[in-house]
Amino acid sequence: MRVLLTGHQGYLGTVMAPVLTAAGHEVVGLDAGLFADCVLGPAPADPSGHRVDLRDVTAEHVAGVDAVIHLAALSNDPLGSLAPELTYDINHHASVRLARLARDAGVGRFLYASTCSVYGAAGGGDLVGEDAPLRPVTPYAESKVRVEDDLHALADGDFTPVFMRNATAFGYSPRLRADIVLNNLVGHALLSGEVLVLSDGTPWRPLVHAADIARAFTAALTAPREAVHDRAFNIGSEINNVTVAEIAEQVAEAVSGSKVVITGETGADPRSYRVDFSRFRAAVPGFDCEWTVKQGALELADAYREHRLTQEDFERRFTRLAVLRAASDAGVVDDTLRWRR
Ligand SMILES: NC(=O)c1ccc[n+]([C@@H]2O[C@H](COP(=O)([O-])OP(=O)(O)OC[C@H]3O[C@@H](n4cnc5c(N)ncnc54)[C@H](O)[C@@H]3O)[C@@H](O)[C@H]2O)c1
Repeated sequence: MRVLLTGHQGYLGTVMAPVLTAAGHEVVGLDAGLFADCVLGPAPADPSGHRVDLRDVTAEHVAGVDAVIHLAALSNDPLGSLAPELTYDINHHASVRLARLARDAGVGRFLYASTCSVYGAAGGGDLVGEDAPLRPVTPYAESKVRVEDDLHALADGDFTPVFMRNATAFGYSPRLRADIVLNNLVGHALLSGEVLVLSDGTPWRPLVHAADIARAFTAALTAPREAVHDRAFNIGSEINNVTVAEIAEQVAEAVSGSKVVITGETGADPRSYRVDFSRFRAAVPGFDCEWTVKQGALELADAYREHRLTQEDFERRFTRLAVLRAASDAGVVDDTLRWRR
């Protein structure tokens, strides 16, 4: 398939592109390149792509494409809370526009990178399945719910949207993010000897390795239409349904000499959900996640050591919010996060 991969120069896209290529697909990227230089280790070999803002996509970008995998977004809660209206412009309106253009161009399948944080304040009790009530507690999560709703309305006999609700990702990517929980805690452990948890550690936060997300999207691309058409899927595995305190314990075991410090200074985090991942396994027989949290912590610790992660890079270069703030302060991007020419 010829696949348009938006966000191909992000944390997940950089891992996903080679997995798609290895599966025999032709990948064309599309990304504004906001974090293209945020690389830890050797520079990745990106597929050919369009450097374009999602808000400026035209019919030309989707012409001749068999499927779209849509990852490009302001990708976490802090970014979303920085400028909620921008989050809705980029994550919601521009995504729906892209989907319409894709449908009009005859693109058959549209895999949308949603998130388990659509469940929001689901509490810690029963496992939440895809039909559970959606209770987003941030603009970021709300933007994902709105896109799911609008794409659902576009589904028809020729256009198959699929809602991939990923757990929180972890693991090494050449375009690292240190602002997601496991990647962050391993970095803290190595740099300071402390596995620093600012919340009270109690929230449930299911995790999934970036490579497992890449494999899940690749499988969804060619799964029988009737198995995935207009359906939502939680992407992850039950063994990685863990509390933040448990994640911290795993990190302390993986990074020798480090110890867990739970400060609780940010209080209880309302985002808490334990997730049922069985629907995707049933829809795509043979698929399962391969990575555990512990394996991911060991992999990250090795990568951070090998590529000599510094405190400065940890706090600035690999923290999405800090990168955008710095670009804005330097006048490189305007206040709508568009590159100034
Ligand atoms: N990483 C996770 O834990 C996680 C979990 C669930 C869902 N997701 C979703 O997966 C997707 C990818 O996440 P990621 O971790 O790779 O994030 P990321 O921030 O590393 O990558 C996002 C990419 O989108 C691009 N982008 C942002 N705004 C753009 C715009 N206006 N025009 C064009 N490109 C733009 C960025 O340049 C970047 O390359 C996002 O939609 C995110 O919400 C991520």
